[in-house]
Amino acid sequence: MARENDFRGRWALVTGASAGIGVALARELARHGAKLILTARRRDRLEALAQELRLQGTEVRILEADLNDPAAPQAIYDATEGAGLAVEILVNNAGLGQFGEFVRSPLAQELRQVRVNCEAVVHLSRLFVPAMVTRRRGWVLIVASTASFLPVPFLSTYAATKGFDRFFALGLAEEVAPYGVKVSALCPGPTESEFFDIAGAAQFKARGVQSAEVVAQRAIHALARGNRTLIPYFAGRATAFLVRFLPASLITWGVARAARPAATPPTHP
Ligand SMILES: NC(=O)c1ccc[n+]([C@@H]2O[C@H](COP(=O)([O-])OP(=O)(O)OC[C@H]3O[C@@H](n4cnc5c(N)ncnc54)[C@H](OP(=O)(O)O)[C@@H]3O)[C@@H](O)[C@H]2O)c1
Repeated sequence: MARENDFRGRWALVTGASAGIGVALARELARHGAKLILTARRRDRLEALAQELRLQGTEVRILEADLNDPAAPQAIYDATEGAGLAVEILVNNAGLGQFGEFVRSPLAQELRQVRVNCEAVVHLSRLFVPAMVTRRRGWVLIVASTASFLPVPFLSTYAATKGFDRFFALGLAEEVAPYGVKVSALCPGPTESEFFDIAGAAQFKARGVQSAEVVAQRAIHALARGNRTLIPYFAGRATAFLVRFLPASLITWGVARAARPAATPPTHP
């Protein structure tokens, strides 16, 4: 029997469920019988996805929340686990990047990446994982990136936040494994979503992307199996392997040459 059947009838909380990989992860969890709590800022998107999944027989709740607000994780917890609804699957997926020169990038956008990609992940995990430990069962998926394996000039803050996510996931996985809680770091490469448009890096989409559906299928399979790291495509696995043997200065030089933006003003006010 596929391990994904373990998700049947359990509540899964998916952050960033209004677009891209989050939508695909929610659909995949629903396909395996999970009940869903969908959260993001865009309520209309959440409602549309909820309606789609309910028509297929999935129980769905939606919670509008801005994870840039430090109070949001507690509000999400209070409305779910705190209200007696056992969240057994936590998917920390919400995230954003900002492409361009760090010194020209709006400070608010740099800090937003740290809050949404790191602080909210720690906060939500700290709130939800203790109950999983008590129940001796749970699953946590943390969406990192192949950018977590190397410094990425012109996405410097973003790559650093993803390095944080991957290390946090790996450390937490070891800590909670004795309690039956599985933690996986998902490290996608360029994936079909709104990410590049929002990051101001639409030009990178032309270099080939993986579908969010394939990423989600592989991620949920890896989570069910208890794999601690998943890089869902071959070039990403090759990159993660090769960077171990190359000096960081050479990697950053090469990446900077490939990624250097045209001299354009920052994309966010
Ligand atoms: N696409 C890629 O190539 C790629 C590669 C590696 C890793 N990733 C990671 O994959 C994850 C999902 O990204 P994606 O590619 O699916 O991008 P996306 O299509 O832009 O989706 C991002 C999701 O995060 C949510 N989000 C962003 N800021 C938020 C905030 N302040 N509060 C609450 N939710 C927020 C968005 O919802 P609202 O705007 O409705 O709030 C949206 O649902 C991210 O962690 C990203 O770093 C993506």
